[in-house]
Amino acid sequence: MAQPVIGVIGGSGLYEIEGFSNVEEIRLETPFGDPSDAYITGTLEGVKLVFLPRHGRGHRLLPSEVPYRANIYGMKKLGVERIISVSAVGSMKEEIVPGDIVIPDQFFDRTQGKRASTFFGEGVVGHVQFADPVCGDLSAVLYQAAVEVGATVHRGGTYICIEGPNFSTRAESNIFRSWGVDVIGMTNLPEARLAREAEICYGTVALATDYDCWHQEHDDVSVEAVIAIIQQNVATARNIIRKAVNRLSGVRGCACGEALKYAIMTRKDLIPQ
Ligand code: ADE
Repeated sequence: MAQPVIGVIGGSGLYEIEGFSNVEEIRLETPFGDPSDAYITGTLEGVKLVFLPRHGRGHRLLPSEVPYRANIYGMKKLGVERIISVSAVGSMKEEIVPGDIVIPDQFFDRTQGKRASTFFGEGVVGHVQFADPVCGDLSAVLYQAAVEVGATVHRGGTYICIEGPNFSTRAESNIFRSWGVDVIGMTNLPEARLAREAEICYGTVALATDYDCWHQEHDDVSVEAVIAIIQQNVATARNIIRKAVNRLSGVRGCACGEALKYAIMTRKDLIPQ
C-alpha cells in the first residue's frame, strides 16, 4: 500500500517548512479554480508531506478569498489522508496566554455565508456528520507532540470562526466570550468541513497571539502584535509538526476515511462515477 501522505496548511507566519527533503513544487488546476499557491511536496522525518500556505506566499488572500474547495481538493488529489492546520488565533479566555498552543475540538460558525464550503450541490445531496468536527486521533497526536516540545498547550476548546477581515468589535468579543468560546480565528471552519467531506482527517494547531479586544489589561489586537507573537513561536509550530508526522505514518484507525458512507441522499446509480 502507498505510504500515507500528510498535508500541512500553514497560516499567517508559516509560509514554508524547514528540514524538508526531496522538495518538489506542484501547481494543480482543480474544478474549483486554483489553490492558494503551488503545493510543496517532500519528506520530513521520512514521511511524505504536502505543504500549502493558506494565504499564498506573500500573504495575498483574505480569509474570505482563500479558495478552500480548491485547496482541499488538491490535497485529496495528492493522496493526503490527514491535514494539520496551523493557525494564529485570538484568545477568548484569561488562561490561554498569548504564545500558548490550543488544539481545538469544536468550531462555531460566525462567517457570513460568503465562502463556498461544501463539495455537495449541483445535483448531489449529502449531509456529513460534523458533531465532532476534528479528528480525535490526529488531535491527540498533535496535543502530545506539543507537550513534548515544551509548549504550554490546551487540549480541546471551541474555535469561533468569523468572516473578517476586520477583527471583532468589543461588543462582539464580549458576547462571543459569554458563549463560552476559547479562541477566535477566520479560516479553519470551512477547511474542517471540506476535509470531512473529502474523508480527510483534520486537526488544528492554534497559536494564541492576542486577547482580541475584551481584556482590560491588554492592548487590543493588532497585526503588529499578532506578527510579533508568531515570530517568537513559529519554531514551536515547526517542532510540533516534526514530532507529530513521525506518529502519523500508520494506517488510520478513525472513522474520517468513511465519512461519506451514509452521507449521500442522491440515488447512487444517478451519480456519475
Ligand atoms: N487571528 C489572530 N488573532 C485574531 C483575533 N483576535 N481575531 C480573529 N482572528 C485572529
